Amino acid sequence: MKNREIILWTINIALIGAIILYFVINSNSTQNTSKVTVKNQPTKSLPTKKVSISTNTNTNIAPKNNTISTTPSYSLAEVSQHNNETSCWTVVSGKIYDITSYIYSHPAGVDRILQGCGVDATRMYGRVGAHDVSRLSNVFVGNLK
Ligand code: HEM
Repeated sequence: MKNREIILWTINIALIGAIILYFVINSNSTQNTSKVTVKNQPTKSLPTKKVSISTNTNTNIAPKNNTISTTPSYSLAEVSQHNNETSCWTVVSGKIYDITSYIYSHPAGVDRILQGCGVDATRMYGRVGAHDVSRLSNVFVGNLK
């Protein structure tokens, strides 16, 4: 009888223990899921904030960098090194143009156009009515310092 009672008690204790364990595990898992949902809420809202900040900073920085890097400037000393038919830079109204490709097709002759290579040709260029600065936009090199 005593042995049976002991066995029954141990079974009871084991059952109660199992039930308690079940509830403990269940309560932990529900807490975890609730934590996950709580964690998910801020992570959902964070990316939208980050994206708006990053695009703002990009749009603020990109145009400034582009405008600086796409318009180089050179001194007249640098322009003067391009003073022959192999490399002919000229200055017209503060802007530098590489007119090398026009030399042998110049209507008034090669010698005339070569006079403008490596120098500020604003006056020479301006004297001729047929000259049009807008034609030179495709050979624009940069601004004169
Ligand atoms: C900056 C360098 C240049 C100088 C010093 C220069 C000089 C001259 C001179 C002295 C004339 C003759 C004007 C006359 O006889 O009445 C002329 C004519 C002309 N040049 Fe230039 N030139 C230059 C660049 C250019 C370039 C880059 C072009 C083309 C994009 C060009 C196109 C012409 C044309 C179309 C004429 C008129 C020809 C005619 O009326 O028959 N020139 N140039």
